[in-house]
Amino acid sequence: MKIIFYEQGADIDAWLGGLQRELPDADLRVWTPGDTAAADYAIVWRAPRELFANRPDLQAVFNLGAGVDAILDVERREPGTLPPNAKLVRLEDTGMARQMVEYATHCVLRYLRRFDEYDALQRARRWQKLPQHARESFTVGVLGLGVLGAEVAKGLLALGVPVRGYSRTPKTIDGVQIFAGANRFDAFLDGVKVLINLLPHTPDTEGILNARTFGRLAPGAYLVNVARGPLLVDADLLAALDSGQIAAATLDVFHTEPLPQDHPFWTHPRVSVTPHISAETLREESIVQIAGKIKALARGEPISGIVDFKRGY
Ligand code: NAP
Ligand code: GLV
Repeated sequence: MKIIFYEQGADIDAWLGGLQRELPDADLRVWTPGDTAAADYAIVWRAPRELFANRPDLQAVFNLGAGVDAILDVERREPGTLPPNAKLVRLEDTGMARQMVEYATHCVLRYLRRFDEYDALQRARRWQKLPQHARESFTVGVLGLGVLGAEVAKGLLALGVPVRGYSRTPKTIDGVQIFAGANRFDAFLDGVKVLINLLPHTPDTEGILNARTFGRLAPGAYLVNVARGPLLVDADLLAALDSGQIAAATLDVFHTEPLPQDHPFWTHPRVSVTPHISAETLREESIVQIAGKIKALARGEPISGIVDFKRGY
């Protein structure tokens, strides 16, 4: 089988070496512009349109991340770019869930125990004790209960805070209050103190973190966006921070990445910025998962993680 690989800036030797170890009979190559030779599988992250075009042989495209918005955007802009019979397969966990649980836990503890405010007090050389937040009303709402969101919701229960989750279809997670479907969105939001976003970027979710959403949260709520930048209306967050409706935000993803130098988030005293690192693609775990799925497809067996183009995730 022929496999093409594309990821700008990746450690190519490590990726191809690992893939060859798992798939000894595969003919692996790095895709470069102008390469139109046949390929059965593509393993890519943020690949240009040209890689996908005119490849009727392609059986599956493996996305080196959980979010497939970049690939679907290529198809949305120029329908028919992706080979019609190729499956689009995203990474499922591969060590990302644990990283997301760590990131979310850090944020919730930071806000629950007011460490962000103590940092500011230290900078002002002020020795001042702040009253603790009441744990029982420090409700955390997790938007998206998929592979990552479900683990985050479960992990946060260990902090003893009430945890809610929101998804398109109903779920059962012990200890987590579930809200499913658009008609339950407002009920989900009502009174949430920390909103953690783990929804995929689709036409339905774009801009969902907006003034209306913020207005339904508990006063002085906190926002954590670890999904994708376009789900947030930046100006609405800045206004909500000004009014106090949002007390502080931690943002890992942005409309434009890297975040432009002149963006107000960089210097806002109540915004924490990280450079899209809340859950990174781990090479070994990803190689093993992708190789396992390629072997299953070659045997004609079903695999999980296939993207539904209509749903957009
Ligand atoms: P996933 O397994 O596909 O889960 C998506 C969840 O969102 C599902 O629970 C789904 O509901 C729900 N959902 C989708 N559209 C919805 C809508 N319109 N209304 C309500 N719920 C909706 O995805 P995942 O693996 O957990 O990853 C989630 C996202 O995290 C990715 O798409 C990616 O953008 C982001 N991510 C970011 C980083 C980072 O480093 N910052 C790393 C990895 C992933 P159903 O369960 O009912 O289908
Ligand atoms: C990273 O952002 C991913 O989608 O895996």
